[in-house]
Amino acid sequence: MADPVVIATWPFGKTATDTALPLLAAGKPALDAVIAGAQAVENDPAVRSVGFGSLPDRIGQLTLDSCVMDGKTLSCGAVAGLQHIRNASAVARRVMEKTPHVLLVGEGAKWFALQEGFKLEMPHTVEAIREWFEKHPEVKKKPGGRQDNFDPVDINVIDESNHDTVTVLGLDKNGHLGGVCTTSGLAFKMPGRVGDSPIIGAGLYVDDLAGAAGATGVGEEIIRIGGSLFMVEQMRAGKTPQQACELAAKRVNAAAVRRGVHPAACAFLALSPKGEVGAAATERTNFQYAVSKGDKTEVLKAKEIGPEV
Ligand code: GLY
Repeated sequence: MADPVVIATWPFGKTATDTALPLLAAGKPALDAVIAGAQAVENDPAVRSVGFGSLPDRIGQLTLDSCVMDGKTLSCGAVAGLQHIRNASAVARRVMEKTPHVLLVGEGAKWFALQEGFKLEMPHTVEAIREWFEKHPEVKKKPGGRQDNFDPVDINVIDESNHDTVTVLGLDKNGHLGGVCTTSGLAFKMPGRVGDSPIIGAGLYVDDLAGAAGATGVGEEIIRIGGSLFMVEQMRAGKTPQQACELAAKRVNAAAVRRGVHPAACAFLALSPKGEVGAAATERTNFQYAVSKGDKTEVLKAKEIGPEV
């Protein structure tokens, strides 16, 4: 028997861990508990980067990305660019359970969700639409005009309003690991842009035999280093979750140096099969994460790793 542990990205991850821990304590499987936690964040309109009420893309479409993975069987499922369905993580789980595939995108993902009985919804909130208008005055100037002349989005900036993915990793009483990653992606992204969050091996990877890992931040940089699979393989090779996360942050830094750019904001979270936790981020990411175990939840700041000089 293992002592349940659940961890999640960002302070809003506390909503997820507070939801998941009692389920784990009651003996539920890790995947059930982490998805319940992720859905609590998806349903919170105050979180503008996950699920219902999150910020749309440049042309006002709200598209969701998610993936789930079961560490016992390596079963996994994902959706990307999903519109008008609130709980992308639940659809990702259904892809895992009901199809021979791992990833469904766009209209195909939506039709699959509708066939599976998910409700069609208008997920925009007034607050999110207002922010989209405020950040894009061009839209106000030319309401009937073309909307393809936006300023380029600075993908390296993650600020208070754009706090990115919730990734939730859990260890259940039977010693099994489960994970989920869910987001609307970068605020005001290009239509069609997909980040790391629905990509198994980038935003999430879970293997009972090695550990669970997840990421948040600028998805392009996380995909570039294969972030989550990289961390799990580091744990398989004997590194602690903390060492695995720090190595991932160093990889982002090294990749940035090779491309001659400043390292983007990226953060990494890992959980070992024994329940040890790790977290690290690139410089100035100000990454905080929630950890729930026993009878308490803490929100902690991750160590930041600067580029080597
Ligand atoms: N990490 C989320 C994204 O880049 O879309």
